[in-house]
Amino acid sequence: MNLDMTVSPAPVRKRLPPSIAGQPEILTTIYQPEHNIAIWQRTLAPEVMRGITEMLQEANSLALVQTVTPDDVAQWVQEKLSDYACATALSEDIALIVDMFCCLFDLKEAGLRLTMLDNPMCPKFHVDRVPCRLVTTYVGAATQWLENEKIDRRKLGAGSLGQPDHLSGLFQHDQAIKQMQPGDVALLKGSGWEGNENLGLVHRSPEITSRERRLLLTLDFV
Ligand SMILES: [Fe+2]
Repeated sequence: MNLDMTVSPAPVRKRLPPSIAGQPEILTTIYQPEHNIAIWQRTLAPEVMRGITEMLQEANSLALVQTVTPDDVAQWVQEKLSDYACATALSEDIALIVDMFCCLFDLKEAGLRLTMLDNPMCPKFHVDRVPCRLVTTYVGAATQWLENEKIDRRKLGAGSLGQPDHLSGLFQHDQAIKQMQPGDVALLKGSGWEGNENLGLVHRSPEITSRERRLLLTLDFV
């Protein structure tokens, strides 16, 4: 009779690295089911920020919407922004991000929105019904989000019973609110991602003061 009662050690649970880092490779972690957000933290050059800020002060409005490819996006953006000194630097940066997005998801094209905002576009916490959206705020307050473990999803949407976020019971403390920084490039996994139907990243536009302007870039699957 085999009396060997040796218990094999429990498998060590692999700890996932946080999906926030200063290297763009971090964006690939969005494929892991445990992550519904991945953020590439970066700081834009001061002269680029200055140029974009000047554009936001000069422009009456700015809302570029286009299906783009990694090859044509730089020229398209440059032409649209040709009145502004930041056109070259901004178009090159956007082309880099479009290339990364298309490469990561094996897409030939992406749905681009480059928008100047002077009021919160989506002021209440919500989930996007898309597979995955790339979001970056070039200038101004950036997107806010909540960690999955710290929320009561029943309080989203109609479940908030019309209450504002801080009263709905969606989260317990304001400290639960995380905020990206200008320049950060984030992938937000939505409810349209297979297997992520009930785990879409909960996020909202930041509160901004009346005179503040933001420049927001989003990329979507087409
Ligand atoms: Fe959203």
